[in-house]
Amino acid sequence: MPVQPVRLFGDPVLRTPALEVSTFDAELRRLVADLTDTMHEEGGAGLAAPQLGVGLRVFTYDCGGFAGHLVNPTFEPVGDEEQLGPEGCLSLPGMAWDCRRHLHVVARGVDVHGEPVTVEGTEILARCIQHEVDHLNGVLFVDRLDPETRKRAMAEIRAAQWFGAPPPAVKVSPHPLFGRVR
Ligand code: NI
Repeated sequence: MPVQPVRLFGDPVLRTPALEVSTFDAELRRLVADLTDTMHEEGGAGLAAPQLGVGLRVFTYDCGGFAGHLVNPTFEPVGDEEQLGPEGCLSLPGMAWDCRRHLHVVARGVDVHGEPVTVEGTEILARCIQHEVDHLNGVLFVDRLDPETRKRAMAEIRAAQWFGAPPPAVKVSPHPLFGRVR
C-alpha cells in the first residue's frame, strides 16, 4: 500500500533541510508514487518527501488544474506582486491561516528520469510550489505568518488533539533511500 502516514508538526524531520537527489532509480519512482497516492488519499494540494519522513528534495502537486512532481526544485518569482490567502498543510491537519506569497513563480527541476522540467501556472499552483519548496528547506508555512496570526496559530496547534501525541504504533519506514543518495 503506497499510502504512507503523514508526519505532523513537531516531528523533527519537518525541520531538517532535505538533500538533493542524485540517484534516479526505481526507489525514487516509488517515492513519487507514494507521495502522489498519499497526497490524493489525504486530499492535499501538494506533498513533500519530508512529510513522509524521507529527507530528499522531491514534491508532488495537484492543484489549480496542474498535477505532477518535481525533483531538486527551485523557483523564482515572476514580477513582484504578492497574494495573501488561506493556506493549509497536511502536517497541520484541519488548520488554515492567511499566508503571504508571491503571486506568480516559475519552478524548475527535473523529473524522476532526471529530465529538466519547468512548471508555471495559476496563483494556486504558485502558492503550492512555494509551500512545498519551503518544506524541502525545513520551513513550515506557520513560520511565514504575520506575528499576530502566528501567535493565534501556535495556540491552536498547542491545543490540537494530535499535537504531542505519540507516533503511530505501527511505524512504516517509507524508503531505504538514505545512504543511497548524496
Ligand atoms: Ni505542507
